[in-house]
Amino acid sequence: MSTDTTGQGDAGGVAQASNTLTITDNRTGRQYEVPIEDETIRSIDLRRIKVNDDDFGLMTYDPAFMNTASCRSSITYIDGDKGILEYRGYPIEQLAERSSYLEVAYLLIHGELPTQPQLDTWTHEVTIHTFVHENVKEFMQGFRYDAHPMGMLLASVGALSTFYPEATQIKDVDLRYQQIVRLIAKMPTLAAFAYRHNRGMPYVYPDNDLSYAGNFLSMVYKIAELKYQPDPRIEKALDVLFILHADHEQNCSTSAVRSVGSSQVDPYSSVAAGIGALYGPLHGGANEAVLRMLRRIRTTDNIPAFVEGVKKGEERLMGFGHRVYKNYDPRAKIIKRAAQDVFEVTGTNPLLDIAMELERIALEDEYFVSRKLYPNVDFYSGLIYEALGMPVEMFPVLFAIGRTSGWIAQWLEMIDDKEQKIARPRQIYTGGRERDYVPMAQRS
Ligand SMILES: CC(C)(COP(=O)(O)OP(=O)(O)OC[C@H]1O[C@@H](n2cnc3c(N)ncnc32)[C@H](O)[C@@H]1OP(=O)(O)O)[C@@H](O)C(=O)NCCC(=O)NCCS
Repeated sequence: MSTDTTGQGDAGGVAQASNTLTITDNRTGRQYEVPIEDETIRSIDLRRIKVNDDDFGLMTYDPAFMNTASCRSSITYIDGDKGILEYRGYPIEQLAERSSYLEVAYLLIHGELPTQPQLDTWTHEVTIHTFVHENVKEFMQGFRYDAHPMGMLLASVGALSTFYPEATQIKDVDLRYQQIVRLIAKMPTLAAFAYRHNRGMPYVYPDNDLSYAGNFLSMVYKIAELKYQPDPRIEKALDVLFILHADHEQNCSTSAVRSVGSSQVDPYSSVAAGIGALYGPLHGGANEAVLRMLRRIRTTDNIPAFVEGVKKGEERLMGFGHRVYKNYDPRAKIIKRAAQDVFEVTGTNPLLDIAMELERIALEDEYFVSRKLYPNVDFYSGLIYEALGMPVEMFPVLFAIGRTSGWIAQWLEMIDDKEQKIARPRQIYTGGRERDYVPMAQRS
């Protein structure tokens, strides 16, 4: 609680706790002492700062939540300056190298790495829930032939709530767990169906003998063979991509999941909200922008002129730089290795050649070096997807598969957080007041 030392000058010489903030309201001359906890003050403590009793109290204005913590979270730690990303305290480098996506999903959701029996049970549960109701398939068939796969994913995940009406019982731990398993299990199936729909190809049912990533590849690429055998290098690279995309704390889509989930709606609807946010070009679309840039450059001969244009500020080198990571995106190093493994299988193509040359030049150029502009995760993920023959529309869909475990972990944390209530930001009203209705004939 804040201490109101109203009207007493500088708190009347009373010794103040050192972990507090003293605020002087120059409108009234009053002083307030506000606790600082975790290097944060509570906005609600400012509400006591009033000019008179009718005053609503002071608010903070923070469009885009640039400096507002909306929750306490023990899921993902990021230190952008040092290039650190940890899930539940485990460095992303170790998880990408030694873990699997399903193990990481377990870690994010449960908070601890699973024992072998726990992992076996979890893997089994996810694997046996990969099929979707036949009506879901028919529902997806209702989309236009050229429907964007992200729009299809968004709609079909939302539709899942109608197949599992018990999902509304979010306080029932067992029922809740069932929906979590279903979401993680069915996301690749819905994503692959969306891809096949675009291609006018028959949907491929899940193959539960395969790994999580291997089954996704089978549902995407299987044609007439009796059994699809994914190349282990591609399977591993895709699994690593899912791990790298699994969570990134309170970004736009995660905030959407939490915000919508705070209404206590079912998790399918909350995750659909996250997919909606990820659909936007500023969030899930950066790797698509990388590919569009590479296509525009067309040949390696055009790279110097392109780089000169970037340096003159005419445009940006897409896939370079990061808002949070000002040193190096720790995911980029890992994904670069995965990309090389994929190229070994698929071979390179002219676009990949341009990308590699662009990267080489940029990493040596003083402009990029001095501004600490390194390739980010989207630079390489776009290249991997391109090498796998994925259309750019599928890029955010693949992102969504990996991010589902993070969304769910964040949703769960929010549901069980006693401090959370339905999200309801305030506003500063800027419109007119108390205007009398004007009849149509008198309006100009
Ligand atoms: C990600 C991004 C928005 C971060 O931007 P930011 O934190 O606001 O960084 P700033 O805009 O302050 O950039 C700092 C300097 O680097 C330059 N810069 C940043 N990213 C650049 C890029 N990709 N290409 C060329 N110059 C870039 C800026 O022009 C600025 O230069 P200046 O100091 O001479 O004005 C930005 O790096 C960018 O647009 N990258 C390309 C898009 C992309 O890959 N997005 C995916 C992110 S995961």
